[in-house]
Amino acid sequence: MNRRRKIYEGKAKILFEGPEPGTLIQYFKDDATAGNGAKHEVIDGKGVLNNRISEFVFTKLNELGIPTHFIRRVNMREQLIKEVEIIPLEIIVRNVAAGSLAKRLGLEPGTRLPRSIIEFSYKDDALGDPMVSEEHITAFGWATPAELDDIMSLAVRVNDFLAGLFMGVGIQLVDFKIEVGRLFEGDLMRIVLADEISPDNCRLWDIKTRNKMDKDRFREDLGGLVESYREVAQRLGILVETD
Ligand code: C5P
Repeated sequence: MNRRRKIYEGKAKILFEGPEPGTLIQYFKDDATAGNGAKHEVIDGKGVLNNRISEFVFTKLNELGIPTHFIRRVNMREQLIKEVEIIPLEIIVRNVAAGSLAKRLGLEPGTRLPRSIIEFSYKDDALGDPMVSEEHITAFGWATPAELDDIMSLAVRVNDFLAGLFMGVGIQLVDFKIEVGRLFEGDLMRIVLADEISPDNCRLWDIKTRNKMDKDRFREDLGGLVESYREVAQRLGILVETD
């Protein structure tokens, strides 16, 4: 497929060396995994849709002055991004009870939370991405207290933007996961949004029908994943031709 140097391969994406120093190519695969890789399928067209949806969201975030690693989309499956030093955390923002939170606290899925809640997991496949607190993050040095402040305000800004964006097209943003990294520019370092934002890492419910339009369709064997992702793209006004 490619003679470029592969830097990293994850469950749903591959990072290749970019055309210039400080850049990478982020390639979106069709692979879907759940349960930390316990369940795995290749779903035709998913990578193309996530590339386009993530491009759309990251472009808007950049325009709003919310810093991201995204430079531009290169083709159906690839984006040019800035190389960042990934902070080994999954940052989860929740507006409505669902998934692991509903289970952990015995909440009825769909219950609106008293306020948006931010949770952190330590990114480690072998450990199954355990949930950690701000204390763990600063004590183990995964992020400094100042970086953690930046991460939390970034997460809140992304949530405000995304919740409004989806609400405008009849979709409730239940929760989502982001990843962040350190971007070094000369002597300056700042925290920027990395990875992707797509229905693979958001819970998106149709406001009218309550249908799930996200990766829970795969996790819960509901079928129709690509159709739902395409519907999300269409509602956002993105024209996508899957290959
Ligand atoms: O499973 P849980 O309820 O903790 O997931 C919360 C949110 O984070 C969901 O939107 C899910 O898609 C996302 N997530 C993710 N990658 C993970 C774990 C969760 O994108 N490894």
